[in-house]
Amino acid sequence: MRTYDLILKKRNGYSLSKIEIEYLMTGYLEGTIPDYQVAALIMAIYFQGMSDQEIFALTRTIAESGENISLEEIPGLKVDKHSTGGVGDTTTLVLAPLVAAAGVPVTKLSGRGLGHTGGTLDKLESIEGFETGFSKRALVEKVKKTGLVVAAQSSDLVPADQKLYALRDVTATVDSIPLIAASIMGKKLAIGNDALVLDVKTGTGAFMKEQKEAIKLARIMTALGQEAGRDTVAVISRMDQPLGKAIGNSLEVKEAILTLRGQGPQDLKELCLLLGGWMVYLGGKTKDPAQGRKDLVRLIENGAALNKFREMVENQGGNKNVVDDLELLPAAKRKLEIKADHAGYISSLDALQIGSVAVNLGAGRRIKTDTIDPAVGIVLKKKIGDPVQVGETLAVIHVPAESFKDMDRFVQDLVKSAYRYSIEPVSVPPLICGWIDRKGKCHYA
Ligand code: URA
Ligand code: CA
Repeated sequence: MRTYDLILKKRNGYSLSKIEIEYLMTGYLEGTIPDYQVAALIMAIYFQGMSDQEIFALTRTIAESGENISLEEIPGLKVDKHSTGGVGDTTTLVLAPLVAAAGVPVTKLSGRGLGHTGGTLDKLESIEGFETGFSKRALVEKVKKTGLVVAAQSSDLVPADQKLYALRDVTATVDSIPLIAASIMGKKLAIGNDALVLDVKTGTGAFMKEQKEAIKLARIMTALGQEAGRDTVAVISRMDQPLGKAIGNSLEVKEAILTLRGQGPQDLKELCLLLGGWMVYLGGKTKDPAQGRKDLVRLIENGAALNKFREMVENQGGNKNVVDDLELLPAAKRKLEIKADHAGYISSLDALQIGSVAVNLGAGRRIKTDTIDPAVGIVLKKKIGDPVQVGETLAVIHVPAESFKDMDRFVQDLVKSAYRYSIEPVSVPPLICGWIDRKGKCHYA
């Protein structure tokens, strides 16, 4: 096989066989096929797309490129979730303990934040002492003990994805549906969960700006999961404005704890109950997702979900007292209130722009090696549909101790311009667009 011929084949719109895809990925990982050839290949994939068979083959090769984690020792059906990312997406922090409280074991491997999306690990590490790096053995032991673990994906898992993602990042080939699907599902298949609930975002703050594209991505990922024997469904949800009110690491931990106490923002709670209802159902605990959702409401009301969060924190070496005393979380010394210059109704709130403010404050990373400030971030006081008067607070910025010159002005201008107003009342677009069932059928909400 010649790499050149395979690039040419893909460039001209033909499908690559399983053996050809394996040859390319193995060669790339071993270093016998150089970056520049793979760069050309993925650009050809970007323009020509891939057949389902090609995507299946690519996903398998990615999944098998490194270590796999078996969860066989853990009794019961193990269920994972994945969100395609967004701004202020606090769902894992709420969902993992919530679903574990319903008796479904959750082994969730997460990433760190890069660009405008925050990372679950960065958020949890704002809790004093909280650890996320564990051996395979320790992961399994932790899940056996408390029913959940949220940990870092080690570098021996899916090395092909790590290498390919870094190349996509610098060659303008990240937003390709086949490559995203194979990247996400390759990682999921490397861990021995039985079922998977996907939250595929659509809207201005998501990878997939158009709902049609999000459905396409959700469909192929559902098919990839089912084909590999993992019971997979997907929910399509909107990411035009940030989810919940808090964006920032310790701020989102606080928001998650409030949600588990039944005091969280409506949109975050709604999405968690929907995704969680599916997780409980796929975990074999209820007859349908609606019943799963009802069970989860009860577990919030009776404190079991919050208690599970406390157990998780303790089991991962963190200070569990934060659950009852939110003052123990890192907090910014200075806050900056952003006031409205206009009256009316909020018609849009640019998630990407708010995400970029958070990164500029130090809540996220521009490059991999940036350090995170756990205390900083944004708390939104006004979201789409809310009425607003001139001089009312739109958002509160939790400012870093050491800020660059004119930061206040810079942040204020960015936050203000993320808001758009309407004179007429604005109806809030529904958070949930629909879902893809096990058979790949799309149901619109
Ligand atoms: N998340 C991933 O893990 N991979 C992608 O390609 C896109 C989002
Ligand atoms: Ca949030």
